[in-house]
Amino acid sequence: MRVLVTGGAGFIGANFVHQTVRERPDVQVTVLDSLTYAGNRASLGPVADRIDFVHGDITNADLVDGLVAASDVVVHFAAESHNDNSLGDPWPFVHTNIVGTYTLLESVRKHDVRYHHISTDEVYGDLELDDPARFSESTAYNPSSPYSSTKASSDMLVRAWTRSFGVRATLSNCSNNYGPYQHIEKFIPRQITNVLSGIKPKLYGDGRNVRDWIHVDDHNSAVWAIIDGGEIGHTYLIGADGEVDNRTVVESVLEVLGENPDAFDFVTDRPGHDRRYAIDSTRLRTELGWEPRYRDFRSGLEATVDWYRSNESWWRDRKEATEKKYAAAGEAKTTPGKAT
Ligand code: NAD
Ligand code: DAU
Repeated sequence: MRVLVTGGAGFIGANFVHQTVRERPDVQVTVLDSLTYAGNRASLGPVADRIDFVHGDITNADLVDGLVAASDVVVHFAAESHNDNSLGDPWPFVHTNIVGTYTLLESVRKHDVRYHHISTDEVYGDLELDDPARFSESTAYNPSSPYSSTKASSDMLVRAWTRSFGVRATLSNCSNNYGPYQHIEKFIPRQITNVLSGIKPKLYGDGRNVRDWIHVDDHNSAVWAIIDGGEIGHTYLIGADGEVDNRTVVESVLEVLGENPDAFDFVTDRPGHDRRYAIDSTRLRTELGWEPRYRDFRSGLEATVDWYRSNESWWRDRKEATEKKYAAAGEAKTTPGKAT
């Protein structure tokens, strides 16, 4: 099987490539990645001699067409993925997430290639902290940020291309991933690398926002379950019952690193900040028999902390620029509950 992985130098894509090389010797992987600030060739270093890497953009129709024509399956991870960046400059999100998906869909349509679309639970908006509901495949779309609205748009394109043109596509919407090779702009690696750099962790707003954490390897095993057995045209929600509030995550990072769990700063909240995400993954579990392997967030977090501690060369040269970006966006210390 020849699999084209877009965004394979990013966090989840790189872990997908590692898992595939490890567990699927019959699969020939080609990665297409434009190496934006979020892409990193080093993330593919350990498997470099087992895959083909193409440095290019998913909005380049000619390049995409040649690669799709030579593939049996396309797994589309490439995206602009960070909410905070989408608030500063939405254009790359519109271009990559919408036009890029359109470009891939036109090509898989032309060559009748199987397509799996990676998306996010953020397309469903957010839930109140005390709402017993969780997102399911029938929840109405209600995205909040430029990032999530472009992901929602891309999902709609996939559904339309499936219904109107018979494209053989499946979709998955997953909750927050954690694990190795995640860019240090994101919540968990930002706080780990802050502590390792002598900087206090930064908690947005009141720190009570909840995310439904899943280990990246569990996300990727679910993607393979869908490629193997998913029904064409169907959407599958991926989640591992991992709801934790942000303050607890920060306190855990500090504890794991042997620091005082109160040694963090509250900072300016994210505009439009989604309160809570929660996934009901019953369809994936009952129809495809998928189960997560990482059921204990704390031990998964400990392993992730260890990875960042042992792989400082992977992130160190990006730390200063990442923190400067947050400072330039106006991040400042706050006291929750006090008017600013
Ligand atoms: P990431 O930002 O770490 O990686 C994105 C990769 O895509 C990078 O390697 C980047 O260079 C590449 N890329 C960006 N624009 C490109 C373009 N125009 N052409 C080619 N390559 C391009 O993102 P991630 O966290 O690994 O997320 C991967 C996918 O999973 C995204 O579609 C995201 O929406 C989705 N997702 C992420 C999470 C999460 O928690 N991180 C959860 C659910 C879904
Ligand atoms: O739910 C899936 C989504 O999860 C993916 O679609 C996105 O690509 C991915 O980035 C992630 O989005 P979030 O916005 O939830 O992730 P982020 O890591 O940016 O933030 C997680 C939570 O932590 C969120 O409530 C904001 C908060 N936060 C974030 C940062 C960077 C902080 O409190 N402090 C921080 O420094």
